[in-house]
Amino acid sequence: MTAEIVGPRGRVVGIDLKAVEHAMPAQVHTLVGDLERTPPEALTGPGGGLFDVVISDMAPNTSGHGDDLVSARLCRSLLDMLPGVLAPGGGLTMKIFEGQEYPAVVRETQRLFREAKGFKPKACRDVSRETYIVARGYRAPTPPAAEGAGG
Ligand SMILES: C[S@@+](CC[C@H](N)C(=O)[O-])C[C@H]1O[C@@H](n2cnc3c(N)ncnc32)[C@H](O)[C@@H]1O
Repeated sequence: MTAEIVGPRGRVVGIDLKAVEHAMPAQVHTLVGDLERTPPEALTGPGGGLFDVVISDMAPNTSGHGDDLVSARLCRSLLDMLPGVLAPGGGLTMKIFEGQEYPAVVRETQRLFREAKGFKPKACRDVSRETYIVARGYRAPTPPAAEGAGG
């Protein structure tokens, strides 16, 4: 779906702990790895071109114990990575399990974007704790001024 949206001249990069087993269009590149241990450059490539949108469906294997905390940690890792992967003004959609950290992660996302809110698509079962945070208008941090500049 994302490949169709960006078209053949666009670029989609995905990462997952597990390898993708089906064929992907040429504009889709997949990496096998742990997002929490992956530097942003591994996703943007040598050119370092930032993405317009970041989409995360990351979720822990459900164990029934502390899954919401692991989900919140994954979301925070992604938020920490945004300066290296998301263009100013860009959008974000990320899965999160509702739980004690959920409101705080929504607030942290709201600080980084012009608008951000929780969104539970109809496809998520009512009883499921999985939901999404959808945000747009990324307020990219201003890079620190180069040492000695302006003097
Ligand atoms: C709900 S599944 C996503 C399924 C995917 N949308 C699909 O259609 O195949 C959650 C995925 O998050 C991945 N995941 C969990 N922790 C991760 C991490 N630290 N880094 C990268 N991927 C992770 C899992 O391997 C799993 O494939």
